[in-house]
Amino acid sequence: MNKTVEFIKNKLDNFVPEIGIVLGSGLGELADEYCDIAIPYSEIPNFINSTVKGHKGRLVFAKINGKNVVMMQGRNHFYEGHTMQEITYPIKILQALGVKKLILTNAAGAVNETYKPSDLMLITDHINHMGTNPLIGPNDQSLGERFPDMSEVYNKELIKLGEKCAKEIGIEIKKGIYWANSGPSYETPAEIKMIRLLGGDAVGMSTVPEAIVANYCGMKILGISCISNAASSDNGEKLSHEEVIDTTNKSKKKFKSLLLKILEVL
Ligand code: HPA
Repeated sequence: MNKTVEFIKNKLDNFVPEIGIVLGSGLGELADEYCDIAIPYSEIPNFINSTVKGHKGRLVFAKINGKNVVMMQGRNHFYEGHTMQEITYPIKILQALGVKKLILTNAAGAVNETYKPSDLMLITDHINHMGTNPLIGPNDQSLGERFPDMSEVYNKELIKLGEKCAKEIGIEIKKGIYWANSGPSYETPAEIKMIRLLGGDAVGMSTVPEAIVANYCGMKILGISCISNAASSDNGEKLSHEEVIDTTNKSKKKFKSLLLKILEVL
């Protein structure tokens, strides 16, 4: 970690990021528009490179609406074959760089029947159904506790603030529970029914490992899902990654306005 942090700090010219944003599938545009310093993951010691279409793979530093921000333009996923520890390593690095508040974003399938594609959802809580946990292994007590509390992973104040910002810019926003599967296959109709029965509102393949580690490190977290599709196969229609990216593209503008508003008041 020291090597990684030192490498990044050397490029920052004393810029200290206070807010981190992980930009999900198709949502990376903010980092194209606001980019003071960009470092490709491939150059950073101990980082792994992003391979998924719609994910760029770089750390972008910028002052946005008066705030010092670091964006992860693209993330690595468990389904790519990386370990849980590998995909959450950048979160520990963001914390070491000074990040106190973390905005996690993703594209997710709707499970809640009142949701429709292009809706935005503030994550109130999650269900980890990935079958593993990024904190498994020896614990570094200097980062966090062995058995971290998980009673408020998604910060209630930040959720309120997210709702207020959405209202102010005139967009409707849902609140709900994010269910994480490992992927890469989408869900069967029976699985969607199960997720709905067990309390999930949206389903995806990311975010939860990062939220677990960020919470463990003591960061305040805001999670935003961009609903990209009716949950796979639930409606008899086929689902593709292209559709996910396509819908996300359509709601990009809304998503970006919300993020900018949140950064303004955070
Ligand atoms: N299921 C799982 N992950 C997803 C989906 C989905 O329907 N949409 C976007 N990511």
